Amino acid sequence: MASLNDIRSTFLGFFEKNGHRVVESSPLVPRNDPTLMFANSGMVQFKNLFTGAEHRDYKRATTAQKCVRAGGKHNDLDNVGYTARHHTFFEMLGNFSFGDYFKDQAIPFAWELLTKGFDLDPKRLLVTVYHTDDEAAGLWKKVAGLPEERIIRIATNDNFWMMGPTGPCGPCTEIFYDHGPGIWGGPPGSAEEDGDRFIEIWNNVFMQFEQFEDGTRRDLDAKSIDTGMGLERIGALLQGKHDNYDTDLMRSLIEASANVTSADPDGPGKVHHRVIADHLRSTSFLIADGVMPSNEGRGYVLRRILRRAARHAHMLGAKDPVMHRLVPALVRQMGAAYPELVRAQSLIEETLKLEETRFGQTLERGLKLLDDELAKIPEGADLPGAAAFRLYDTYGFPLDLTQDALREMGRNVDIAGFDDAMEEQRAKARASWSGSGEAKDARIWFELAEAHGPSEFLGYETETAEGVIQALVREGATTGAVEAGTRAQVVVNQTPFYAESGGQIGDQGWIRTDTGLARVDDTIKAAGVFIHVVEVIEGTVLRGQPARLEVAHARRGEIRQSHSATHLLHEALRRHLGDHVAQKGSLNADGRLRFDFSHAKGVTPDELSAVEQEVNAYIRQNSPVETRIMTPDDARAIGAQALFGEKYGEEVRVVSMGVLEGSAKGADGKTYSLELCGGTHVARTGDIGAFVILGDSASSAGVRRIEALTGAAALSHLRGQEARLAEIASVLKTPAAELVERVRALSEERRALAAEVAALRRELALGGGAAAQPGEDPVIGGVPFRARRLSGVGGKDLPPMIDEMRAQGFQGIILLATESDGKAAVAVANSAPDLAGVSAVDVLRAVVGALGGKGGGGRPDLAQGGAPSLEAWETGVEAAKLSLQTLTAGG
Ligand code: ALA
Repeated sequence: MASLNDIRSTFLGFFEKNGHRVVESSPLVPRNDPTLMFANSGMVQFKNLFTGAEHRDYKRATTAQKCVRAGGKHNDLDNVGYTARHHTFFEMLGNFSFGDYFKDQAIPFAWELLTKGFDLDPKRLLVTVYHTDDEAAGLWKKVAGLPEERIIRIATNDNFWMMGPTGPCGPCTEIFYDHGPGIWGGPPGSAEEDGDRFIEIWNNVFMQFEQFEDGTRRDLDAKSIDTGMGLERIGALLQGKHDNYDTDLMRSLIEASANVTSADPDGPGKVHHRVIADHLRSTSFLIADGVMPSNEGRGYVLRRILRRAARHAHMLGAKDPVMHRLVPALVRQMGAAYPELVRAQSLIEETLKLEETRFGQTLERGLKLLDDELAKIPEGADLPGAAAFRLYDTYGFPLDLTQDALREMGRNVDIAGFDDAMEEQRAKARASWSGSGEAKDARIWFELAEAHGPSEFLGYETETAEGVIQALVREGATTGAVEAGTRAQVVVNQTPFYAESGGQIGDQGWIRTDTGLARVDDTIKAAGVFIHVVEVIEGTVLRGQPARLEVAHARRGEIRQSHSATHLLHEALRRHLGDHVAQKGSLNADGRLRFDFSHAKGVTPDELSAVEQEVNAYIRQNSPVETRIMTPDDARAIGAQALFGEKYGEEVRVVSMGVLEGSAKGADGKTYSLELCGGTHVARTGDIGAFVILGDSASSAGVRRIEALTGAAALSHLRGQEARLAEIASVLKTPAAELVERVRALSEERRALAAEVAALRRELALGGGAAAQPGEDPVIGGVPFRARRLSGVGGKDLPPMIDEMRAQGFQGIILLATESDGKAAVAVANSAPDLAGVSAVDVLRAVVGALGGKGGGGRPDLAQGGAPSLEAWETGVEAAKLSLQTLTAGG
């Protein structure tokens, strides 16, 4: 019997043999569609190839596409477990032609694969065509020899396939399998078509139009083919089963569920096992594609599926979490076809376990509340909305989980009552933020958050994505359009742009719509709304438009480098300076970073060098950077560094990097750096490239700041240093290796020369020879008085010159003055010890006053002062003499 894995290979192999490129499934989170929650068919990743907006190096492709139908328009969640063919996760097999072949080849391909490749009995096959499509009907007649009654013309949209309200579309032909009269049901288009006898197995779409928002269509330049066949359906058929859950793959998961719960796979718990098997696939694949449980958007869909699974496991009597224990069985079945499952296995297991454990803590109490509430109301009555809301709000029961629990009893929830309770809570929240004194311009973001919900961030996984413009804000008010040359703020339902937080700067890039282009200069957030700060540079950007968002890639890469380097730096500092090192602030920008941390004294050059070397060693280790989601308590328990006093939500991201070498052990025994962090990081530490510390400085009391460079910026800094060194070497005509010696010698030499020059200057100033003409000095009041106006020396040269005169034996009052740098300096000394009655300070003040200056002071034996100039030098000398006369006369 062919397994589902065999059937997938046969399908892809058949089309590969016929000139098709085997293309990998795109991730479940579509990056090229603004509105789709999850990939829901094979053509999603090729959307732009059909319209001609994009070209690739192949014109024929075949895929097995991961699809999830559990959120948004296509939602099969409610039915899973209870029917034969509903799944939240399934694989769609498809072949595609992008302007290459059309109907006349697609139909023969389909017929050949079904009847020869899969060996289906041609007599059991029948088809539908769009009622006006004579060409397709003719081909079925010709290629398959189908009689008229097995080519059914359908006039409804069942045979006109559209991806969504807009986009590529066209008529289709569907292929059905007839299980025979033993099973109730009628052919498509008949009143009994919903029966199980005729099962649709394959849809071939003839893509030939593009539909626009206003309902008009254009002919596509090139006619194309898009087909879709559910692997689980064709698998069931080929394995002779009527129920998708009886195929080998699904059965093995059901048996794994039966094993861990010790509950008979076909007993009364049958439905529960089916739900668990299905939900195991969707939750695991969503986590592998980067979705994490949350209370919003895609993360909430994941959470709802998982909680639904947890309740069904509980119904089977499981006391402990079971989902994570089933992951190995899933990886065994599907890991070869989808290696991302293998890569993410531990992340999937941890995430499932965490979610199920946490929900397990309230599940039982919630179910008890549900019983109590039901006991209060009449048999068969709807559960009051308020009770369902309490289950949601207090016990974490998504509405559909409560509905699922009631379904087994044939009962419903009063949805209107539930909505009322929800609205009442919103009104309370509104009242609290409008009364919270938030700045008036912050109000608009709360209002947008309430109207549209928080923005969904896609930037951990991708740097480009499509979104829908939900709001345009200009000068604090919303507007419908923004024209070129205008600055504005743009809000989009989902975005790859990182909004500034946790020290990481906001992304820059571009937002493009059909009618305009905006440059994003910054991204910030408020009330969970991501705000793109833009200037429209071409055309007009309109509210409601789909938009293509592109983060400036190189810049973001450099920001990642800095952020990851900051984590390594933090840990290296802790190891080298001590556990008291705690983050006090940080900036992670493109190529540069700043890290503030508690540390009482300066970091020595040796410490800085050791830290820098250690960070670079972990960069060279090139180990993967991993992210997981945990409760704050679990994160602290494994020793993750968190910001003290910071408020964390119910779950936190823990970023780990570096594998400890040698005997040292990390907080969890093996990881170098573990931090709570919401930022974006490199994939492997080696991506940081290089790390250079620029220096350490004081930031505030007890807080040091290290600034550093990473990647290309670090290298160009080193290169610049190198160039400067070469330049110095060339100026000094000394090999670089001898520069230090050379500079040391030069500076010695300079010191000696400076001393020599100063001495010579002084000599020169005194008219050559400090022995100074004794005959020229008058004696005033019995005291020798020497006054000299000098040139070419500064004020600080005066005291040594006085010393020199003293040393040479001059005994009396010395007055020296000089002009330099546009001002005059004056010094007066009393070098005669027996003239104690005369204070140099008094004489100095008299001189300074006469020169038009003020003040001055010192000791009785040496005083100094300044004046604007020496223009009145003669007057100054006279004033000195006068004062000397007065002073000596008095004494
Ligand atoms: N896109 C088509 C479908 O999903 C083939 O049915």
